Amino acid sequence: MQEQDWTRVVTAATRAPSIHNTQPWRFVASPERLELHLDPARALPVLDPSRRQQVISCGTALEFAVVALAAEGFAAEVELVPEPDDPDLLGVLRIGGRVDVSDEARALAAAIERRHTVRAPFEARGVPDELVDRLQAEAGSHGTWLKPITRSEEEVATVFLISRAEEMEQGDPAYLAELESWLRTDPAAEDGVPVGAVPEGDPHERASNWLIRDFVAGHREAHPFRAAGDPDASPPEVERPAVVLMGTQADDRPAWLRSGRALARVLLIATDAGLVASPLTQALDWPATRTRMQSRLSLVGAPQMLLRMGYPRPAPEGAPAVVSRRRPVEDVLRFEDSAG
Ligand SMILES: Cc1cc2nc3c(=O)[nH]c(=O)nc-3n(C[C@H](O)[C@H](O)[C@H](O)COP(=O)(O)O)c2cc1C
Repeated sequence: MQEQDWTRVVTAATRAPSIHNTQPWRFVASPERLELHLDPARALPVLDPSRRQQVISCGTALEFAVVALAAEGFAAEVELVPEPDDPDLLGVLRIGGRVDVSDEARALAAAIERRHTVRAPFEARGVPDELVDRLQAEAGSHGTWLKPITRSEEEVATVFLISRAEEMEQGDPAYLAELESWLRTDPAAEDGVPVGAVPEGDPHERASNWLIRDFVAGHREAHPFRAAGDPDASPPEVERPAVVLMGTQADDRPAWLRSGRALARVLLIATDAGLVASPLTQALDWPATRTRMQSRLSLVGAPQMLLRMGYPRPAPEGAPAVVSRRRPVEDVLRFEDSAG
């Protein structure tokens, strides 16, 4: 692989979602292989002291690279955590032989650019069971279980734990300061979460059980509300997202990377099928709520990601689509003749 080929592949990899759009990755490319490193400078010590969510983010970037290579006709072999003594080296991707490019490989690679986290309410239309079954099988092939939250007692428990975690977070000045440091008012910012990518209004007021992370609590000037008897008030349309919990048997770096790779495939297949998604990971941020989720839902192993998925509503007329941007690829990719 030449430098310009790796530049293309790593550009695709960096389109991956990451917690607070921290983009916690660095890549080192040589002709035969690509190394993925965790960037120690981009940590979230309050929200993610174990760096679990950042390692998941890196796993997603790694799989985006695999998908981009497959669409160019290259097989890739991935080794996770090749040198446990080097805590920042997460994985190595080696170029295998040439392969035929399938329609599916092309479709998934095309979905990389189209995928964005969509936190706005979805259409009131359910996600087909067959699609959820496919996502479950795909996650399974990456050593990750995917459990749709469909039974009402599981939904009640999950919604409760999200609300509890969100309440704890909003009461924690260190959490709020860290969140604020990754919130961006400049839509051209190259990292962090742009305010324009977060729906206006108080998440508690949405016509949905599923409480999205409140990125702007400290900035909100007025809480919009509908006065009783308001003639314009009509019952809100309720979204019907598919909510899926993903997890792994083990709870270590290789498991986090595997669940990141599974997340990548789930998101790209969903995007290709016309769906949009947003993670709801508040309850997994805190050991207390994460452990309670394990026991209340009788999970085998550790929950890693909670995702709401659905069909997007048409954007309101004239509303700019604010998408989260990325740092230039040169900032995260270094070339070596041999990466050692
Ligand atoms: C591990 C992980 C956890 C995340 N948790 C949340 C979350 O709790 N709430 C949320 O709105 N977005 C969450 N996100 C989405 C990121 O904020 C989003 O990927 C990032 O801002 C980049 O935007 P994009 O996905 O539109 O490219 C999470 C993403 C990852 C990878």
